[in-house]
Amino acid sequence: MAARKKVGILTGGGDCPGLNAVIRAVAKKLIIEKNMDVVGIKDGYDGLVRNEYTKLSYRDVSGILTLGGTILGTSNIANPYRYAINKGGRLQLKDVSKSVVRQIKKMRLAGLVCIGGDGTLAIANRMFKDGVPIVGVPKTIDNDIMGTDITFGFNSAVTIATEGIDRVHTTAQAHHRIMIVELMGRTAGWIALHAGVAGGGDIILLPEIPYLPAAIAAEVKKRHTRGSRFSIIVVAEGAKPRGGNVVVQRMVKESTIQARLGGVGLMLGEQLEKMTGLETRTVVMGHLQRGGSPTAFDRVLATELGTRAADMVEREEFGQMVGVQRGQLVSVALEDVACGSKTVPLDHPLLQSARSIGTCFGDEG
Ligand code: F6P
Repeated sequence: MAARKKVGILTGGGDCPGLNAVIRAVAKKLIIEKNMDVVGIKDGYDGLVRNEYTKLSYRDVSGILTLGGTILGTSNIANPYRYAINKGGRLQLKDVSKSVVRQIKKMRLAGLVCIGGDGTLAIANRMFKDGVPIVGVPKTIDNDIMGTDITFGFNSAVTIATEGIDRVHTTAQAHHRIMIVELMGRTAGWIALHAGVAGGGDIILLPEIPYLPAAIAAEVKKRHTRGSRFSIIVVAEGAKPRGGNVVVQRMVKESTIQARLGGVGLMLGEQLEKMTGLETRTVVMGHLQRGGSPTAFDRVLATELGTRAADMVEREEFGQMVGVQRGQLVSVALEDVACGSKTVPLDHPLLQSARSIGTCFGDEG
């Protein structure tokens, strides 16, 4: 009798609501329908370097649909092509990809499902070229992965961010303040745009539209004159002033995301207080947007993506990522995914709708 095929699953990059739902879907389908064995690689690519993995049984992946985080652990630092090694207190970046590929061959993996964002999928693409049979599943709250209209995690993040915006409204109104809510989104403003619209933000600042502090101050004053003595500003962490730069909290050389962003909300708050004379407070939603249980929408999407990824493994559609385009599941070459990030087009219908109801994007004086 032929040996059962063995398929690996790993989760890379930042955690995201719905990761466990994908793991569950991939593993259950491979076990039940395809008669394959499944192994979970620990902590993303780190587990491949360190040779840490575990067999996943049907029971192991039962009851995890609603869980946040990932039962496998993850890492947004481990990259086999630039692996950080501590030598006498000094970090050295080493290419350990050859031994990782050897390790995968030794494990006799018939396929490796890599669930991750742009960084993880770019590494997956390189590993595929180096001979690893990879299927990608797009993951990120940022919704910025090329080749797919939507990623799981995004809906959950927008839902949490919207609740945050809703909650600052009361203080803004009661104290006649400017309340700034800083949201995630490094290069793409999808979360800020959607949560900003859903939460009724008066001013929404996106990485795609460099802002003018004077235009924002003018909008706040205009609202005051009209009797609205408060303003809600929703700002993506990657928003920057026209001609200026993003606010970097810290550079992390060994990370796949080297610039850790954060602080634009506080910086803008100080500026606006001086420019308008109005009291201003900033709330940074940060990792609250990535934590906890996925929404029903994300659970469904994760299940669809995961089951399709299992089919792709069986059909040996390697070097491909499952995506959603115009409401249909599609396969997209990893090559076409790893070439940048999907930002908000300046003519996006939601942007236009928001402008048409008076939402300011900080770009008009
Ligand atoms: O890419 C997802 C994301 O949540 C970004 O929006 C954010 O800039 C980054 O990850 C934060 O990463 P970390 O958890 O490493 O701080």
